Amino acid sequence: MRLFGLTGGIASGKSTVARMFQALGDGVIDADALAREVVEPGRPALAKVAARWPNCVRPDGRLDRAALGARVFEHPEERLELEAILHPAIQEAAHARTLAVEAAGKPYAIYEAALVFEKDLDAGLDGVILVAASPETQIQRMRERDGLDGREARRRLDAQLPLDEKRRRARWIVDGDVPLEETRRQVEAVHRALEEASR
Ligand SMILES: Nc1ncnc2c1ncn2[C@@H]1O[C@H](COP(=O)(O)OP(=O)(O)OP(=O)(O)O)[C@@H](O)[C@H]1O
Ligand SMILES: [Mg+2]
Repeated sequence: MRLFGLTGGIASGKSTVARMFQALGDGVIDADALAREVVEPGRPALAKVAARWPNCVRPDGRLDRAALGARVFEHPEERLELEAILHPAIQEAAHARTLAVEAAGKPYAIYEAALVFEKDLDAGLDGVILVAASPETQIQRMRERDGLDGREARRRLDAQLPLDEKRRRARWIVDGDVPLEETRRQVEAVHRALEEASR
């Protein structure tokens, strides 16, 4: 069973490309979705977070993301504690999903995550697909989709690895700047390459 990464900068088009792979029958594991699932009510990671940051859980038992985000933003050392709770839970969930994709008879799964290279996850993957969009495109999409001003959009971009560095570390590149039909053609070509690489 192969596990390939799918990454790209903020608003580059990762989720759009992930849906294209899904439409071709590929099993995609969404790291963002797992990160939300592991802190749903009743999950052990939420109980741990609640014990450590009781003020970050609402009366109805759901996580108050905004409060927790603000707390660890102001207390960076607590972010490490939070990650020590969340990461093992996310990894376990990702592993379970990978096994489910394998049980469905697929030769590979695709792990979609924003920070594959930043967190050196590529070492444990069989190759990474990069969705490459120019900073101008990313900023424009953040303004349109998220209503950010140019300054805030630029600040979020600057927190990520430069595109050139990601290009060097990627095994396959899909263009996120081009019309969607062209992106889809490139995804189809990478899909065939993934099948080939999994033989
Ligand atoms: N090739 C494209 N042409 C035009 N618009 C696109 C293209 N790809 C993505 N978009 C649009 O850009 C926005 C961001 O795309 P998407 O959500 O797929 O990016 P993302 O990398 O998953 O973002 P995030 O970092 O927030 O998870 C969406 O509104 C999407 O519809
Ligand atoms: Mg996304």
